[in-house]
Amino acid sequence: MTTESHADETAPAAGTRATFGSKLGILAATAGSAVGLGNVWRFPSETANGGGAVFVLIYLACVCFFGLPVVLAEFILGRAGKANPAGAYRNLAPGKPFHYFGVFAVAAAVLILGFYMVVAGWTFEYFRLAAAGTLAETTDFAGVFKSLSDDVWRQFLWLAVAVAATASIVGCGVKKGIEFASKLMMPLLFLLLLVMCARAVTLPGSGAGIAYLFSPDFSKLSSSVFISALGQSFFSLSLGMGCLITYASYFGPDVRLGKTAGQLAVTDTLVAVLAGITIFGTAFSVGGNAGDVADALAHGGPGLIFVTLPQLFQTLPLGQLWATAFFLLLILATVTSAISIYEIATAFLHEEFRLSRVAAVVALSALTLVFGFFSAASLGSVPADGESAGSLAGTLTLGGKTFFDWLDTLTAKWMMPLGGLFVSWFVGWHLDRKLVHAQLSNNDAFVIRFFRTYIFLLRFVAPAGIATIFLAQLLAS
Ligand code: TRP
Repeated sequence: MTTESHADETAPAAGTRATFGSKLGILAATAGSAVGLGNVWRFPSETANGGGAVFVLIYLACVCFFGLPVVLAEFILGRAGKANPAGAYRNLAPGKPFHYFGVFAVAAAVLILGFYMVVAGWTFEYFRLAAAGTLAETTDFAGVFKSLSDDVWRQFLWLAVAVAATASIVGCGVKKGIEFASKLMMPLLFLLLLVMCARAVTLPGSGAGIAYLFSPDFSKLSSSVFISALGQSFFSLSLGMGCLITYASYFGPDVRLGKTAGQLAVTDTLVAVLAGITIFGTAFSVGGNAGDVADALAHGGPGLIFVTLPQLFQTLPLGQLWATAFFLLLILATVTSAISIYEIATAFLHEEFRLSRVAAVVALSALTLVFGFFSAASLGSVPADGESAGSLAGTLTLGGKTFFDWLDTLTAKWMMPLGGLFVSWFVGWHLDRKLVHAQLSNNDAFVIRFFRTYIFLLRFVAPAGIATIFLAQLLAS
């Protein structure tokens, strides 16, 4: 590793693109992107609803047959194209309209920030509430969360904090910002998760929760379980929005793409499973599996993270400490994901519009504050007097969905599968096979087995799976 970063620091000549300094840094940054809210607030609930071990097996199959081929396709596109998503498509297919796929991915990234950063802001505020002991004093956890989601300006303040934290990391650049921050934050996240998981499994009665989570229940098997496993694997691996294209454009020539993709998938899945054990173990031990707790576990999402879990943690000895540790963990998970989404649009503005990195980050932050403001404002319930800022809520709803939910649905359910389809189509059908082979084998530096299988998965299997999720989402909405 030292030799790489050394070589890298002495090498850059004018016009050379930034690269990550070490393989550990690459793993920290890509896993930092993948490990996020999806692992904590969706995977455990999906597992419980999808028949425990049955869901986990289907999920693993989705990761292997659909997720990994697309991860590799994004890596190939990024490292060969050496640019932001639009530039990468253009560099590999000059004079053809493929770069619109890249522009589409960047647009999706900007939209996803509009709600992801609002949630990131909540995690900062909850960290403060937990650390200051406010959560330890309350009995009305639902009320605490409602008062936040009703209060546009308090949300905006914390959104601004989350934006400032993310922007200052991305603004420092690929190596000194993103890689450096990921290498600090990801080990800490892992450590916190291991400690919390160890605490959860040693609580009396936690075994029942873990058994509930992982014992196979074949009666829950249905096509919708398959579709949610597929959707979850895409979201969790950060696919379809040019995120891994952008990060891979900073990979050096000796990075093994297959190995990196494997490490990424293993880390992401491991974190999801550990989060599931922690959440279900704690819930069954402290709350039993009754009433509200069972409901929250089944639904996942903000209700689980911001209402039920804080309540459960408070009943443990040293509750304030556990709640604080949990929200710190969540901050680390969200910020490392947020920087990866930020980098997509930052690289785009920087390279396509010749803005400096700092100017690109500032422009993107301004846009995120605007989108974030409206998505936060759309959440508040309409107050009886219709006067407070929350009164925007009623006007920011369309078809029964808030602006916040629209951004989520539009990006995660529609744009992401489409983006994944574009990537697998382009790399599978359009890109020269020799180039694909050279990328996977680092110019024949080593032998790759399964090349034909990979091409087959990319050309037929992955697109068929993605098209299935897409159509199912379309029909369901
Ligand atoms: N994977 C992250 C999570 O699990 C979210 C995320 C980060 C993402 N970057 C992305 C999702 C790019 C789609 C595309 O929360």
